[in-house]
Amino acid sequence: MDKKMDLFQPPYPRYSPQNKESFAYTTLIKRWPSILTNIISTLSNETHKLHSSHDVNSEEKLEEGKKMIEKLALLIYEMGHGGELTPLENDHEPNISCYNDELSLWSPLQRKWTHANWLFAECYLYRRIRQVFSLTRHWRSFDPFFYQKEDTYRSSLGAIVHLAQALNSMVERTDLQVGYGSAGSPLEMAFLEMIQSDLWGNATDLSLLVDLKYEDLKQLQAVGAKAQAEQAKLILRNDLPKVWEHLKTLRGARVDVVLDNAGFELYTDLILADFLVSCTPFVNEVVFHPKSIPWFVSDVVPFDFTWAIDILLDESFFSTASPPPTPTELESLAVLATRWKGHLASGAFKLSVPLDTPLGGDTPTGGFWTTQYAYQDMPLVAPKLVEELGKSGLVIFKGDLNYRKLIGDAAWPPTTPFDTALGPLAGTMNLVSLRTNKADTICGLDEGVAEKVEAQDKDWRVSGKYAVISFSPKRIS
Ligand code: F6P
Ligand code: MG
Repeated sequence: MDKKMDLFQPPYPRYSPQNKESFAYTTLIKRWPSILTNIISTLSNETHKLHSSHDVNSEEKLEEGKKMIEKLALLIYEMGHGGELTPLENDHEPNISCYNDELSLWSPLQRKWTHANWLFAECYLYRRIRQVFSLTRHWRSFDPFFYQKEDTYRSSLGAIVHLAQALNSMVERTDLQVGYGSAGSPLEMAFLEMIQSDLWGNATDLSLLVDLKYEDLKQLQAVGAKAQAEQAKLILRNDLPKVWEHLKTLRGARVDVVLDNAGFELYTDLILADFLVSCTPFVNEVVFHPKSIPWFVSDVVPFDFTWAIDILLDESFFSTASPPPTPTELESLAVLATRWKGHLASGAFKLSVPLDTPLGGDTPTGGFWTTQYAYQDMPLVAPKLVEELGKSGLVIFKGDLNYRKLIGDAAWPPTTPFDTALGPLAGTMNLVSLRTNKADTICGLDEGVAEKVEAQDKDWRVSGKYAVISFSPKRIS
């Protein structure tokens, strides 16, 4: 079967940088060059260290580093000077033919960076960056974005401590579940606080920090009921009441989280997961799905997952934060991390791939997340994954890119029902998307909402300030 023939075609065009008003265009001319330049700068620092290294491989590694810098610089040049997306070389890692097969169907004009469909081009870019590393001997396990992930985690200490203390005290309470079925119950309120923290955790992804200052981080990391009530006004579609009603029907179920960013966002994912497992009767197991290669700067790879938990037990890590944590705060982080390690040991928390999967490692279903495919095509190109996720009580899709893929990054009229935009994926699983808006595509809004917010804030689709929470239930077939 030629699967390409059967891929879902949204009835509206997908975004591309051809439209100079679109975020795709800003990304092409500003964000991608800046992201690539940051990688060059990281590599340049790393190679500099090699001059004083006594490692027997340092000369070879240095030479490879130099070639990698040249390749990345050429890529920046091509993007800005009418270049094309060229076929990927075979680096013996997954997801080469999916990109090359699609590219081979395009005209030379469609293959230009300035004309290519944005979703494809951006996924291709991160696969292409991976190739710069995977084709080397000494750099294939190097994550060029790790230092950035580490820095933002450290600078999120205030929100990290707040959430640790809030959750630890919920876990200790014996009365939290009393009367949980009634409207406004303590358990419902606690759930809303935890899931909204998880939503706003997505506002702080590092690919956007190209435009955002660190000082803005704190404001975006809304924690506490009061801050969240304020932030809730910015949720343009809010299906949380439906999600809560659905959760209450579950007993000892599995929840899956299709992860987005490492650091603080991952921390909020773990907080929500721990809340569901430790404080409710609904969920016994949470499966986290990471990316297999460095992706969209800050996305979680397997190493980031264990690191984020282990580092909470390393008192020196946050000591350079400003202000540094108090002993009581450190203790609350240790209690939390110890509980999470217990969840990993008992199987209440699981990574969908082995914890020690190396970058670029091949796993049965884990590679799908770093293909270019819209999730509307998941039933066709990854049926086993759909079958697996269909067994889950709830699949939480985190972040902007997952949302773009769920609805194919198309220019849907904003009032299009979410289920319509999901195409063939709708009904195959219970899914909720928690997304802060960082790209033009959007659907599921009530009549008049888009016009109203557009009149107040021209950047509402892309600034990360607004959000949508969209739920789609599984249909029993
Ligand atoms: O570069 C485009 C983009 O996909 C934006 O949509 C978004 O800003 C970012 O990259 C990824 O966001 P997230 O980490 O929320 O998926
Ligand atoms: Mg991301």
